[in-house]
Amino acid sequence: MKFYIATDHAGFVIKDFVKDYVTSKGHEIIDLGPHTDERVDYPDYAKKCAGMVVEDKGSFGILICGTGIGISIAANKVAGIRAALCHDAYTAAMTRAHNDANILCFGERVVGKGVIESMIDAFCETEFEGGRHAGRVEKIEGCAFGADI
Ligand code: RB5
Repeated sequence: MKFYIATDHAGFVIKDFVKDYVTSKGHEIIDLGPHTDERVDYPDYAKKCAGMVVEDKGSFGILICGTGIGISIAANKVAGIRAALCHDAYTAAMTRAHNDANILCFGERVVGKGVIESMIDAFCETEFEGGRHAGRVEKIEGCAFGADI
């Protein structure tokens, strides 16, 4: 799988650990920054990563901030993005299976390294189930354009 990763300053410290883990599992990961620990605004990095995931069809993203909340909210403003704030392997697997999530989000201040590894494994190993979930995912895109659902 091909991933893009971005964080804010509150997700910066864990970024290299995540990159190393994803690479060790045989995936590609491209670092969109930040490249120092200076304070930055998470919407800027959410937009950067979300834009790449939409542009590069079939790719995925990982977004990290302090809680994972702000960066996931911001990413979900981009049409075509389904950014899921996860807290464990179960939520990471379910968001691939049912929501066809294309960005995994979490909080550096919330989850530890073992949980992060298990979330990445679950996200990578779980396929979208389609079927009854496909129409629901299509309706999410309708929401992004303000359609009447
Ligand atoms: C930064 O202090 C923090 O607000 C940010 O990383 C994130 O947790 C926001 O949702």
